Amino acid sequence: MTEPQTWHHGVVARWWAEFNVSGPEIAYFQKFIEDDGQPALDVACGTGRLLIPYLRAGLDVDGCDISTDMLARCRERAEREGLTPNLYAQAMHELDLPRRYRTIVVCGGFGLGATPEQDVAALQRLHDHLEPGGLLLLDNENPYNDARLWRYWLEEERAALPEAFRDPGPRRTGTDGAEYELRSRVVEVDPLSQSVTMEMRGDMWREGELVASDEHVLRMTLYFKNELLLMLERAGFTDVVVRGDYTDEEPTADSGFLVFIARKPGVLP
Ligand SMILES: C[S@@+](CC[C@H](N)C(=O)[O-])C[C@H]1O[C@@H](n2cnc3c(N)ncnc32)[C@H](O)[C@@H]1O
Repeated sequence: MTEPQTWHHGVVARWWAEFNVSGPEIAYFQKFIEDDGQPALDVACGTGRLLIPYLRAGLDVDGCDISTDMLARCRERAEREGLTPNLYAQAMHELDLPRRYRTIVVCGGFGLGATPEQDVAALQRLHDHLEPGGLLLLDNENPYNDARLWRYWLEEERAALPEAFRDPGPRRTGTDGAEYELRSRVVEVDPLSQSVTMEMRGDMWREGELVASDEHVLRMTLYFKNELLLMLERAGFTDVVVRGDYTDEEPTADSGFLVFIARKPGVLP
């Protein structure tokens, strides 16, 4: 099987550590962990947007991610606060960790980089890493929520691919004093396999001089609600509940993001 391909490396990883540090997901998932859900595992933890606030709150949470650059930035951020998380560099379809968890969170990570077969294997690994009675919390953007991508499901729109790189907008200055710029483009959309290939270019400047520049490819598979329900069931999960946009409400057609709350059968030890 091919190695999962993501763009979360180099300058892109630095961007995440600097600028992606908030969002409604953090508090939403936190309450499940606080409610008898420890120990917990943050799968595809990235630079610790969720993990670091959880550790700061004294919760027992480990992290794993396929990108050693994202994990390095996560560790730097944690160490600045005197935190020493267990971080593992592993792809989720090959997850093999020493602990079992009461809660596993996958936020913004499912379907990224991997093949559909690897995604199926990942759900099985997540199931294996839960205690009986434990909960998997997995979010997924509804494929039709992203207008930029959704238009390419139409044949006549796909003729315009690959896109040119987009204007990055104004550069952003990080806490490290460096300036950052990201630009992305859609390269390919295949509605039959529900896959998207995108590229991202990241540039970093110090005192007006370009000090790092890199380009990465991200492949993702887009999943719909009913597919994910079937996949979770096939992996052995039961009592799957779906919520909309990080609230306790049922989703509607207008929900951009769905959260799947799936239980591994059994009773928590
Ligand atoms: C959009 S970021 C989300 C990071 C973090 N969960 C958050 O919400 O801030 C996606 C993360 O998934 C990781 N990732 C992508 N494919 C993966 C895979 N197959 N296995 C494990 N991690 C993966 C990337 O390296 C990246 O850190």
